[in-house]
Amino acid sequence: MNSLPLSPLKYKHSILVIDDEEAILDIMKITLANQGYDLHTANSAEEGLKILKESPNFSLIISDQIMPGMLGVQFFAQAREICPNAMRVLLTGYADMDAIIEAVNSGGIHLYITKPWRKDELLYSINQILSRAELLIENQQLTELVKKQNEALMELNKNLEEKVRMKTLHLEQSTRELKTSYERIQLILEGAELAMSKIVESRDPYTAGHEQHVAKIACTIARNMSLPNIQIEAIRIAGSLHDIGKIAVPSEILTKPGRLNKLEMEMVKTHAQNAYDILKTIEFPYPIAKIILQHHERIDGSGYPQGLKGEEILLEARIIGVADVIEAMSSHRPYRPTLGIESAMAEITRNRGILYDADVVDVCSRIYQDQGPKGLLQM
Ligand SMILES: [Fe+2]
Repeated sequence: MNSLPLSPLKYKHSILVIDDEEAILDIMKITLANQGYDLHTANSAEEGLKILKESPNFSLIISDQIMPGMLGVQFFAQAREICPNAMRVLLTGYADMDAIIEAVNSGGIHLYITKPWRKDELLYSINQILSRAELLIENQQLTELVKKQNEALMELNKNLEEKVRMKTLHLEQSTRELKTSYERIQLILEGAELAMSKIVESRDPYTAGHEQHVAKIACTIARNMSLPNIQIEAIRIAGSLHDIGKIAVPSEILTKPGRLNKLEMEMVKTHAQNAYDILKTIEFPYPIAKIILQHHERIDGSGYPQGLKGEEILLEARIIGVADVIEAMSSHRPYRPTLGIESAMAEITRNRGILYDADVVDVCSRIYQDQGPKGLLQM
């Protein structure tokens, strides 16, 4: 039984022992028998080198220092070339201390064992050096693994960077195209709006410019109410088209001088619903058709076509409704001269919160007081 504890080894190791004395080789064989090693022996340095060349997978090489033909240190110098990963142990007598120092300093030898040795010390030394060899192997495998993983990671990172770069380029290109396409659509939309309002005006030349003026007044009110740009844009489009439904009203009625009779009035009133029917299928980015449908609705429910009340009426329609009254009363009509902006302001103030939205009227009054008629009309 060994008195020195041995560490468990993971692998089956091949060991090569070189000594010119057969007796030493026999002792080695006996000592290392039943230890689980794959033991090979050679009785000269030349034979040892031959074995290594044939099979360079030894974990441990143990060599005598004093051998005829070649010293152990010289043998190890060559063995190291053939089998660089093997652990190297020199067997030597006390008299060879100079050789040991030279061998250890040159780095070629991992351990030396002096003759004679105790069996348990030899087994312990071999076990320890093989444990160290296993650690070195595992360390090497781990280093290799980390290196491979790093390379894979770098490759992945490179691919990822390239993908991100390509995706960014693609996105930038798409954004540019989208912007161009949006601008083109805006132009088409504005062109279509203008064409539609011109058609209405062509049938009622007395109100030429009315829709554009209403759009401007309504936008001025909306800006002063600090509404978001998208809502102001909806008001501008709806204002520009709010009377498009008059296209379905006979032009004799639209241009008739003097007051309209009840039936004619009813026909004129259909323009809100007509406009809605014309525009409802167009996919505006805002509820343009609905805003126009409601531009004659009044806060107290006295308006048309649905008799909506208060906040049932869209804010955009409440603004256009007030702008429509201001513009209509400030302009000449075939059946009457202009009533003037003063009368228009008096009308909306008198009916503040009754026919017209109180906040919208307040904003109009403020603009009128601060900037005069020009602030509101800006025509
Ligand atoms: Fe109208």
